[in-house]
Amino acid sequence: MKLFIDDANVDDIKRLFGLYPIDGVTTNPSILSKTGRNPVDVLKEIREIIGADSLLFAQALPLDAEGMIKDARAIVKLLGSNTIIKVPSVPEGFKAIRILKEEGIHTCGTVVYTPMQAYLAAKAGADYVAPYVNRIDNMGYDGIGIVKQIQDILTIHRMDTKVLAASFKNSQQVLELCAYGIGGSTCAPDVIEALVKNLAIDGAIDAFIHDFAKVAGEDKSMADLIG
Ligand code: E4P
Repeated sequence: MKLFIDDANVDDIKRLFGLYPIDGVTTNPSILSKTGRNPVDVLKEIREIIGADSLLFAQALPLDAEGMIKDARAIVKLLGSNTIIKVPSVPEGFKAIRILKEEGIHTCGTVVYTPMQAYLAAKAGADYVAPYVNRIDNMGYDGIGIVKQIQDILTIHRMDTKVLAASFKNSQQVLELCAYGIGGSTCAPDVIEALVKNLAIDGAIDAFIHDFAKVAGEDKSMADLIG
């Protein structure tokens, strides 16, 4: 499963990218807006932090296919070929995805609330489809169940499109989809950190440090002892 940071805070991205095996960063207009900065400046800075080889997702804004395609071309020209254009999974979006595929521009069908939206975006040629787990839950439906159904549909129809599950509330949801074998998850920094936040883990590490210090001295490492 590919793991992405769903955020545009450059300090958080720098920190998490240095620590975790992260495949890239996903953004949307609301996430960019939270920074209070010029969205293009933020995206350029994120690209510098994560490097040319990591995936960066940025959304096309216009509501019509022609406008989406224009945005997509401009974004890829600015941020490089490893940039995935998020296109809403609606009829104008399907048209844009199809044309962008012919041009070799990678896309992600986003704003996915239903399995058939995902299927149509995939059929149009999207590289990824992004169902919104938590938002679907909040509508009274089973977000995790819908993501699994989308994964099943893509598998049954032997489509290359990957599921990029989004809108997570907690690490348990990520675990459940990871165990199911979905293609990718994109999570806010606090959800990524919660994947390994556990008092038992901290306690075990503290015990190792304490026990070693008894025979080696405070704050001594193996390298210190070996010399
Ligand atoms: C990703 O494609 C979505 O834009 C994002 O994950 C939505 O998350 P939210 O429901 O927390 O806003």
